[in-house]
Amino acid sequence: MNFKDYIRVIPDFPQPGIVFKDITTLLKDGPAYRAAIDALKEKVAGMQIDVIAGPEARGFVIGAPLALALGVGFVPIRKSGKLPGETIEAAYDLEYGKDRLAMHKDAIQPGQKVLIADDLLATGGTIATTMNLVRQLGGEIVGAAFLIELSYLNGRDKLDGLNVVSLMNY
Ligand code: PRP
Ligand code: ADE
Repeated sequence: MNFKDYIRVIPDFPQPGIVFKDITTLLKDGPAYRAAIDALKEKVAGMQIDVIAGPEARGFVIGAPLALALGVGFVPIRKSGKLPGETIEAAYDLEYGKDRLAMHKDAIQPGQKVLIADDLLATGGTIATTMNLVRQLGGEIVGAAFLIELSYLNGRDKLDGLNVVSLMNY
């Protein structure tokens, strides 16, 4: 399947100069959504994974079905102020702004092998922050899985040589 056929590209959203890759056109197509999750599952098959962590919001629609497909748990990483328990937090920059992410302190046990999942790797700010939080909790990051990688933004350079897999490259 050519997954790019299912991505809608919208220039100048959410601000001038950003070329937005809209995954909603893939998600609404059942066979394409399933094929994408199956393809990611194949790409991470060699990794030992105890749990998947995914950042709000689009990381949930990739990370949770991938976790179910692999039979492992899912840890949501949320924007600040949304998690009810004790949290650790970190601020970060992304392609079009700034934000703050939080995780429950007991979400990951020291030594657990963690795969990070999200829809898209752009500048790498979100994933670098996610890695920082997971590591603060003692998690061992075994890789990161994305539908889309925007290679022209060099996000991988922020990820310490992490094992990164993706289905589409722009
Ligand atoms: C988007 C996308 C990634 C991140 C990638 O999330 O889902 O998480 O940006 O950009 P980066 O590599 O430059 O950090 P966004 O923060 O827009 O939130 P959303 O998932 O709630 O739409
Ligand atoms: N998140 C960060 N940059 C993005 C882009 N160009 N398209 C979609 N989501 C993004």
